[in-house]
Amino acid sequence: MAYLSTAITLIFLLHGVTQSQAQPAAAPAPAGPLNITKILEKAGQFGTLIRLLKSTSIADQINSQLNNSNSGLTLFAPTDNAFASLSAGTLNSLTDQQKVALIQFHMLPNLMTISQFQTASNPLRTQAGDANNGQYPLNVTAAGNQVNITTGIVNTTVSNSIYSDNQLAVYQVDKVLLPLDIFRPSVAPAPAPTKAKKKETPADEGSSPSSSKDSTDSSGAGSFKWRSSQEIAFAAVVSFLCWIL
Ligand SMILES: *[C@@H]1O[C@H](CO)[C@@H](O)[C@H](O)[C@H]1NC(C)=O
Ligand SMILES: *[C@@H]1O[C@H](CO)[C@@H](O)[C@H](O)[C@H]1NC(C)=O
Ligand SMILES: *[C@@H]1O[C@H](CO)[C@@H](O)[C@H](O)[C@H]1NC(C)=O
Ligand SMILES: *[C@@H]1O[C@H](CO)[C@@H](O)[C@H](O)[C@H]1NC(C)=O
Ligand SMILES: *[C@@H]1O[C@H](CO)[C@@H](O)[C@H](O)[C@H]1NC(C)=O
Repeated sequence: MAYLSTAITLIFLLHGVTQSQAQPAAAPAPAGPLNITKILEKAGQFGTLIRLLKSTSIADQINSQLNNSNSGLTLFAPTDNAFASLSAGTLNSLTDQQKVALIQFHMLPNLMTISQFQTASNPLRTQAGDANNGQYPLNVTAAGNQVNITTGIVNTTVSNSIYSDNQLAVYQVDKVLLPLDIFRPSVAPAPAPTKAKKKETPADEGSSPSSSKDSTDSSGAGSFKWRSSQEIAFAAVVSFLCWIL
């Protein structure tokens, strides 16, 4: 039995190796230094991520880090669909600092191959820092080619390998990895009815990927803490009840 499963694993691994060798397009040898924007542009469907990488200046940081050091980097890249399926207003309600942390939460300060996830110890430490519970923990469980990810808020799986060389790995994820520190379900009481009535602007990110709101809109947000749509709905119901009683 053990022999059989070892043999199957071997076949699987060899298959994976020959497959990746058969696809030279997956690892183009770029002329000059690596450019994360270019890699994501080429892969398509990462417009929102590219926009965030630029507005937070993290794209430049990644590029110079890749060019100037031998330390690797792993990026989990959420698709445009992943960003579009966040509840409306999610990105716009973040401060600039929170946007930086959100993107850094998608980055590991080392190169992780798919098979290395199997032996990684949880929680993984991301570029966002503190991996303690409630902060920025990122857990993975992996078997074979499957890598499951949980943040404590979002569960998803690596759906594709976009790019990999000996320094950089970019993996597609179909959900935005929401860190507990920013998106922790709040237990705060419903806000005052007057506040609850003040609606968020409906024209938000996701529907208009070309908008540059995410870099300009946050000053007014101040200390505003993002709330789930359930809370907003709850507050709306409370204020409606206050109004009719
Ligand atoms: C990286 O690629 C993008 C898009 O292709 C380009 O606009 C940018 O100038 C490049 N950055 C560097 C440092 O080459
Ligand atoms: C990459 O690094 C080399 C050597 O450190 C440096 O000369 C070059 O200007 C860097 N290129 C970029 C685009 O940062
Ligand atoms: C990943 O998650 C899927 C769906 O939740 C589950 O069926 C699968 O067993 C998980 N795989 C690993 C390696 O945890
Ligand atoms: C992540 O893994 C650690 C260590 O196993 C565990 O203590 C923690 O509860 C996990 N967090 C989540 C969100 O799964
Ligand atoms: C994520 O997965 C864990 C364990 O598999 C489960 O307990 C949790 O409810 C899931 N969370 C979400 C948001 O689906």
